[in-house]
Amino acid sequence: MEKMLWCFLVSISFSDVFGQTELSKKAFVFPKESDNSYVSLEGQVKEPLKAFTVCLWQFTALSRTRGFSIFSYATKKQANEILIFWSKERGYAFAVGGPEVLFKAVEIPPVPVHICASWESVTGIAELWVDGRPRVRMSLNKGYTVETDASIILGQEQDSFGGSFDVNQSFVGEIGNVNMWDYVLSPDEINTVYVGGTISPNVLNWQSLKYQTNGEVFIKPQLWS
Ligand SMILES: *[C@@H]1O[C@H](CO)[C@@H](O)[C@H](O)[C@H]1NC(C)=O
Repeated sequence: MEKMLWCFLVSISFSDVFGQTELSKKAFVFPKESDNSYVSLEGQVKEPLKAFTVCLWQFTALSRTRGFSIFSYATKKQANEILIFWSKERGYAFAVGGPEVLFKAVEIPPVPVHICASWESVTGIAELWVDGRPRVRMSLNKGYTVETDASIILGQEQDSFGGSFDVNQSFVGEIGNVNMWDYVLSPDEINTVYVGGTISPNVLNWQSLKYQTNGEVFIKPQLWS
């Protein structure tokens, strides 16, 4: 009896670790600056990645004030295994396996903005698409392989696996439609995703996202479509 109860408790606590609520048409809202509010996402691919694309919507009024993390994917070996970061002075920084490239910009307008970042090992080509429009491609960490035993976090920038957050790099605003594929989406596919179509994602899928919220993060109807 005790053993059964124990098994039962273990099974509820495991199923509580990563929630899976229907998120279509919803967004994560980070209403205030903190060093402890974030969302952890569980990736679905276990094979190391030779390429990937991440797309999401972000809505923030912070870009002229300070830098912040948009997407932080850390492994035990490399905190910046994949990082999309806004730098007030420099624009969008995109890191893979540590090194980063910069896509210069002076601000992110305070309206919902769609971004996609992709990278492939064989050429090292990194792409950034903002509202369906491409920036000039850049060269980033050619030959690298992205590990998949990762801590994937929205709302904070990881300086170590799952932690070492900095309040001055926290995200304030709204993030949603976070999807990730283990290949580089074609220009047509990027456009399909931007206009709200579906290209089935296999690493992170917003429609069936496994996530855990911590601190002051709320799920609200999204303000874009
Ligand atoms: C965050 O930035 C503010 C303003 O620049 C500064 O006063 C504060 O010390 C910083 N906090 C941390 C933890 O770095």
